[in-house]
Amino acid sequence: MKLNPNYVNLFSDITSKAAIASFSHVGTGDKYKADQAAVDIMRKSLNHLDIKGRIVIGEGELDEAPMLYIGEKVGRGIGEEIDLAVDPVEGTNLVAKNLPGGISVLAAAPKNGLFNAPETYMNKIAFSGDIEKDAIDLDFKIEKNFKNLADSLNKNLEDLTICLLDRPRHKEIMDIANKFKIKMKLLSDGDIVGALFVTNKSFNIDLFLGIGGGPEGVIAASALDCYNCNFKGRFIFSSDLDKSRAKKMGISDLNKKYDLGDIVKGDSIFSATGITTGHLTQGVKKKNTEFITETLVTHKSQNLIKKIEKKHKI
Ligand code: FBP
Repeated sequence: MKLNPNYVNLFSDITSKAAIASFSHVGTGDKYKADQAAVDIMRKSLNHLDIKGRIVIGEGELDEAPMLYIGEKVGRGIGEEIDLAVDPVEGTNLVAKNLPGGISVLAAAPKNGLFNAPETYMNKIAFSGDIEKDAIDLDFKIEKNFKNLADSLNKNLEDLTICLLDRPRHKEIMDIANKFKIKMKLLSDGDIVGALFVTNKSFNIDLFLGIGGGPEGVIAASALDCYNCNFKGRFIFSSDLDKSRAKKMGISDLNKKYDLGDIVKGDSIFSATGITTGHLTQGVKKKNTEFITETLVTHKSQNLIKKIEKKHKI
């Protein structure tokens, strides 16, 4: 089943509105308010749509999040059945501290088309579709992935650049990258944008890897699918609570490695609006009586990848 092309405009409007709502909290240091403002407007806007929507990735489980929780029904309850993965503010710290790359983002697919991911970490790897899918793998040693990457791209190891979150848990990756003189782009936050750096040579990132949020992995995968890039992920269930939640969601093999096709099945739409200006999109701009937003949208069945600039009257 395909998603109606009209949703591209509707969903880009929704992430734009959420970005504008969060924009008033840019640089205030309050990441909770920056997130809440975007959550409120995203939920309200989704509830105006003629869809039978279901949140498969949201602000957490029902017991933790009063709004846009996993399993929440959204929309007017008429029309197509759509699964939604939402992240009203991806990079809450980036927005609160006025750093580049805060976005408002959602991914949508026909019912059962998006993986119902629990709120846990995921070990992820993303790379260009020009590289053989089996050349890079989560089960390979880091050295092997780097060497295969260099061979596939016909580059020397020291000419590679990788992207990862700047976290102590990535020390081994960083040590090996340093040993081979591989350049690193270290992100303080925001690994959806990090994964999307492999979509275009102009970003000069050969590989995105490391552990970040599982929900962010699923959302990134829907855009990467449209760019014909490769993505692999494996959830990390550390606590008993994580494990029992995963089982409730129907995940029986807790160690399963997911390919892009396991995560996004069939058609999908991805919409990401900049809150603060980053590599992917411009941030919200306020000019006299209007806000200007820039949104990156992809729609798999239309082979659509484009940026939309919108003006919104205050
Ligand atoms: P939030 O917007 O929810 O704060 O997430 C930001 C983020 O950097 C994600 O992009 C990333 O997947 C995750 O946090 C990493 O988590 P942690 O900060 O715990 O390493």
